[in-house]
Amino acid sequence: MKIPDYINHLTAYKPGKPIEETQREYGLTQVFKLASNENPLGPSPLVQKALEKAIANQHLYPDPSQYELLKAAAQFWDVKSENISFGNGTDEIIDFLVRIFCRAHDQILFPQYAFQAYEVTAGACQVECVRAPLKNTWHFDLQKTIETFEKNRAKIKIVFVANPNNPTGTYMDAQTVRAFLDYFREQRDVLVVFDEAYFEFTRAKDYESALPFLKTTDNLVVLRTFSKIFGMAGLRLGAMIAGSDIVQAYNKMRKPFNVSGLAQAAGIAAMSDKAFIKKTQEITWSGLDYFYRELTRLKIDYIPSEGNFVLIDVKTDANQIFEKLLRKGIILRPVKNYGLPQHLRMSVGLDVENQAAIKALSEVLGHG
Ligand SMILES: Cc1ncc(COP(=O)(O)O)c(C=O)c1O
Repeated sequence: MKIPDYINHLTAYKPGKPIEETQREYGLTQVFKLASNENPLGPSPLVQKALEKAIANQHLYPDPSQYELLKAAAQFWDVKSENISFGNGTDEIIDFLVRIFCRAHDQILFPQYAFQAYEVTAGACQVECVRAPLKNTWHFDLQKTIETFEKNRAKIKIVFVANPNNPTGTYMDAQTVRAFLDYFREQRDVLVVFDEAYFEFTRAKDYESALPFLKTTDNLVVLRTFSKIFGMAGLRLGAMIAGSDIVQAYNKMRKPFNVSGLAQAAGIAAMSDKAFIKKTQEITWSGLDYFYRELTRLKIDYIPSEGNFVLIDVKTDANQIFEKLLRKGIILRPVKNYGLPQHLRMSVGLDVENQAAIKALSEVLGHG
């Protein structure tokens, strides 16, 4: 069977290395994975209870209308349920948005060093990627984004912005969000996707979600995930919040049972546990502050982050450092596939994991 060239040329998304695989390959009993921006606390106890209860119904197909989950989410985000739909992770929603709004040889625009799923999805649909240059290497640049857009205006169908961004951890400030939407609101045939997977981790005073702008912006989609703050990465649940016409188009595309009954029950429980959200924020922020202090002490450059991870500059081939860290039982994330061959991304874990990661880094980089 001949596989189409555009599929053969795809670079598959490279996820973080699994713990079990690292244990097997390196003969280790203890391995800490700080590679996939997961929640080190696991899911909330309320989610675990809801899952136990939902197990008894797993011989039944899940609710295709996602009614109870929609109701809970509408309340949680203070929007109407007709403005929400769910996916098997936000990954699935990203995939469908590209398939709905782009045809082969159209383009999507996103900033340099953006979440890799945009590029992987585009490639599978023969959609081209256009990258907008950044300001001072790491920061979103509105003017350059608009200039890049205007050069390719006829072909660009979607503009993706992750705010905060992965893998850099940088963010677009409130004033820029407003100016960005003021400009793109007028580009009637272009969809703007604000991927807010890390929204709950932001501390910057001038951070602002795009969610309130849905009322005034027809061509906007906001994405939120249950994989990070809610600790449900394994259950696969992501949400889109958008105008009802976009939500309806997506609902026509998605499969009726794309979100499992377990994920639906867990999502409802997760949103009800405000104390768990707070606890996750607290351990993330104290973990990040610990990283900043230790990285400064070790003279390792890093980019201050609004996510639950930090990007560090190892100033040499990061894959080699990654390998050496694996031997010490620490899995970080090389980001060469993002065009950053000398950086590693390190997620915030539990204190013991954070300390082990810093110790291993100091040994491997010879600063400790
Ligand atoms: C910016 C961004 N968007 C989306 C996702 C995917 O989340 P999900 O697990 O909901 O598919 C991630 C995951 O790391 C991410 O970093």
